[in-house]
Amino acid sequence: MLKTNDVAPQDYRNAMAHFAGAVHVITTDGAAGRRGVTVIAACSVSDNPPTVLACLNRQNPSNDLFLNNGVFALNTLAAGQEELANAFSGLTGLSQDERFGLAEWDTISTGAPTLPGALAVFDCQLIDAKELATHRIYFGKVTGLRIGANLKPLLYHDRGYRIL
Ligand SMILES: Cc1cc2nc3c(=O)[nH]c(=O)nc-3n(C[C@H](O)[C@H](O)[C@H](O)COP(=O)(O)O)c2cc1C
Repeated sequence: MLKTNDVAPQDYRNAMAHFAGAVHVITTDGAAGRRGVTVIAACSVSDNPPTVLACLNRQNPSNDLFLNNGVFALNTLAAGQEELANAFSGLTGLSQDERFGLAEWDTISTGAPTLPGALAVFDCQLIDAKELATHRIYFGKVTGLRIGANLKPLLYHDRGYRIL
């Protein structure tokens, strides 16, 4: 079926389910408070200066913490970290403190919580934010990095977690 206009949100979601995406827990901490959220809507923007973006639902006021703290860390999950992905997506009904309690966290450069066992960590200063439709796009300048050794990526495809 080819539609050229009036694409329904459910049809769009069904098509997007064919994307295989990396799974991240995006975190922040600071004066506004600590928060982590499972996201797949995140990607690279540029390598010079190193810049990433992440899209967070702005209809959830708790996500304003990312804006108000002005820092975030993109923790790209590895195989075996599905429990964190589920917890930080709100699926298990845990509080934010309980979600963070499931793993050890440290910090690199911004104070945002970073996950030692992650596939990769991009610690970022928020440099811009743009509201678009239901979401706010956060642009971060990467000010700290960590690369995990010998880990397999956790992917999300066809509405489930997969290991590459
Ligand atoms: C696989 C997966 C990917 C997700 N990707 C995003 C995303 O890119 N952006 C977003 O705003 N929410 C995304 N979510 C939903 C958020 O994780 C969820 O709404 C949020 O953690 C709820 O937080 P709360 O329970 O503290 O309100 C995703 C959820 C799952 C399961």
